Amino acid sequence: MNTFKPSLVVLFLLFALLANSCKTGAPVNDGADTMAEKMVARMTLDEKIGQMSQLFDGYFGDYEQFKQAIREGRFGSLLNYLGADKVNEAQRIAVEESRLGIPLLIGRDVIHGYRTIFPIPLGMAASWNPEAVKAAFRIAAAEASTQGINWAFAPMIDITWDPRWGRIAEGCGEDPYLASTLAYAMVEGLQGDSLTDPASVAACAKHYAGYGFAEAGRDYNTTYIAEPVLRNVVLKPFKAAKDAGALTFMSGFNELNGIPVSADQFILKQILRDEWGFEGLVISDWASVPQIVDQGYAVDEKDAAAKAINAGLDMEMATTTYFDNIKTLLDEKKITMEQIDNAVKNILRVKYKLGLFENPYVDPEAEKKILDPSFLEHARMVARQSTVMLKNDSNTLPLFADKISSVAVIGPLADSPRDQMGTWSFDGLPENSVTPLEAIRDMIGDRKVNYVQGLKYSRDRTKDQFSAAMAAADRSDAILLFIGEEWILSGEGQSRGNIDLPGAQSELLTALAATGKPLVVIIMAGRPLAIGDELKESDALLYAWHGGTMAGPALADLIFGKESPSGKLPVTFVKGEGQIPFYYYRKNTGRPASDRTWTPIDEIPVENPQSSLGYESFHLDYGYTPLLPFGYGLSYTTFTYSDLTLSDDEMSITGSITVKATVTNGGEWDADEIVQLYIRDRVGSITRPIKELKGYRRITIPKGETAEVEFTLAAADLAFFNGRETLTEPGEFDLWVGPNSDEGLHAEFIVR
Ligand code: BGC
Repeated sequence: MNTFKPSLVVLFLLFALLANSCKTGAPVNDGADTMAEKMVARMTLDEKIGQMSQLFDGYFGDYEQFKQAIREGRFGSLLNYLGADKVNEAQRIAVEESRLGIPLLIGRDVIHGYRTIFPIPLGMAASWNPEAVKAAFRIAAAEASTQGINWAFAPMIDITWDPRWGRIAEGCGEDPYLASTLAYAMVEGLQGDSLTDPASVAACAKHYAGYGFAEAGRDYNTTYIAEPVLRNVVLKPFKAAKDAGALTFMSGFNELNGIPVSADQFILKQILRDEWGFEGLVISDWASVPQIVDQGYAVDEKDAAAKAINAGLDMEMATTTYFDNIKTLLDEKKITMEQIDNAVKNILRVKYKLGLFENPYVDPEAEKKILDPSFLEHARMVARQSTVMLKNDSNTLPLFADKISSVAVIGPLADSPRDQMGTWSFDGLPENSVTPLEAIRDMIGDRKVNYVQGLKYSRDRTKDQFSAAMAAADRSDAILLFIGEEWILSGEGQSRGNIDLPGAQSELLTALAATGKPLVVIIMAGRPLAIGDELKESDALLYAWHGGTMAGPALADLIFGKESPSGKLPVTFVKGEGQIPFYYYRKNTGRPASDRTWTPIDEIPVENPQSSLGYESFHLDYGYTPLLPFGYGLSYTTFTYSDLTLSDDEMSITGSITVKATVTNGGEWDADEIVQLYIRDRVGSITRPIKELKGYRRITIPKGETAEVEFTLAAADLAFFNGRETLTEPGEFDLWVGPNSDEGLHAEFIVR
């Protein structure tokens, strides 16, 4: 009898195969290359060009023409085409009626949830909770995939230093380390443990690269980024997304240092492919290929297509410069068939890894899972953890429902279901949002809530409801004022030159403060606003971003003390636009300012001599500090840091040290603290920032208890790009462990 006895080699291979396919988010490579190779060999040029085109619903006016285009392999991907039955039918035509049976990629912007809307990504970043963020993206993928979507244009991981930029809402803020950890988590969430899981979708790291550095924070504007900033800051989250296994990248709209990134060989080829070894597919942003002409980098669309293809941009979104020009470009030898084949292989591999060749269909029954109570509960939890308490004088918060007779709920954002979802929530439905007003009524009872809208929307300047609002405040124990920005004031194309609270909201706040009632301000906005005056006038302030579907219950939980606020700022808050850019990892300058040197503008004596003001780095009006530092956020309890110890105060250039600190919860609340580790490299071959985040932990500490937090800091974590190479340099370092970028216990160490 012939019995099968696996040899050691076979066993090893099996094990290696399993280990590989079990890696989180790691693409299953087996077969993809072979399939792509074989398929490309069978394809006509027209079919190849089709694969390189992504078109949108509506491009083909008539459904018959649309179906015929699928049969002909006219496009390889669709965006914004949704619905299980619709997509299944499109996939059926692609697979059964086109010559080669290649399935379609179906792309959609699933930026912070599909139907269950989570806080805007900037809000999620304030949770400093990669596990929770990963689970949120897993839910987004699970919901979106039921509609036939197999490709999310997320995560958006553009670092920005500019709160005027409307798209600050979509990213993770200013810090490369925090953004990298979250980018990794977001990719893991979207792609799941297995790419062929029906609830997994391909991730798309965007907008590669530098888009968040738009001059003046004006969307689509030019960017200039010196290579050390590019590599030490901007590219970090993209590298993390690549390392997490992101199957696709999207090039940005922007030009970078004079070259539109959609045609930039340095960005798309040298860094992404040659240095990082990315094997996935790169798609343009919407019409970013023809825009190369407007940018003045190509004479016409044909030239733009040539430049994009030469840079390695595989697929064009929404426009047809590839479709219209590839044949001529080949004839003119401006591009090669090898480039076309490579692009098509990159696309086919993604389809293969997603399992679409095996099963391109989705189960129409799956959509019953949408808005599952567990999804909503997670959205509520994330919204709670994303909210940052910026002030709480005299323990104004929490309010105790059993001790108050009534509260005044006021403001244009108190009951605005659409606004609380924020930007990029195409598929969220306002009717699913639970607003703060509803949640508060639900929590403390209708009778205890005196509601006046005050202003109809955030930009409203009419004050005819002010007296009613003040009257409501007068008859209540406390005021809950919900103000901020409507959703349409942030997001793509929604940049603001002035980042104050819009409309008459500040005046409403001032009027309510004058009543003398405890004033709790809740700001729901898509960006960090300049709220210096409002912060002074309020007794307590919660910064809630746009918190999504469950923003209301999450805020009610915090306001009424079901849980303590625990979010921390993922971005520096400026006093006014004149301070921009202002980020915590700025350089020291040769003339750093301090309280000793800064004379506020109003205190300068008339006719003072020039040298009387000193020559240091500050603004006469703003001074030298931001309104609030990166990493800042308060709790209902008090955390005390002590016992910072380093396993060694010397580290070899290849070694690491262990850093420990003790955090004590000395208050009356069980609560989470986000413990942050920063370093400063005192001297470098190029100057180094005054602080850099190198680690953080969100930990729960019961009241009265103490926790020990431990970090491993490796010399490799201290590496930076100095204009020529990336390396860790020996020398002296500072280290802090603390509650934000401005405070903390200090130690020193040396790298040898
Ligand atoms: C945005 C992208 C988005 C694409 C598709 C563009 O305008 O910049 O972020 O993925 O549209 O909707």
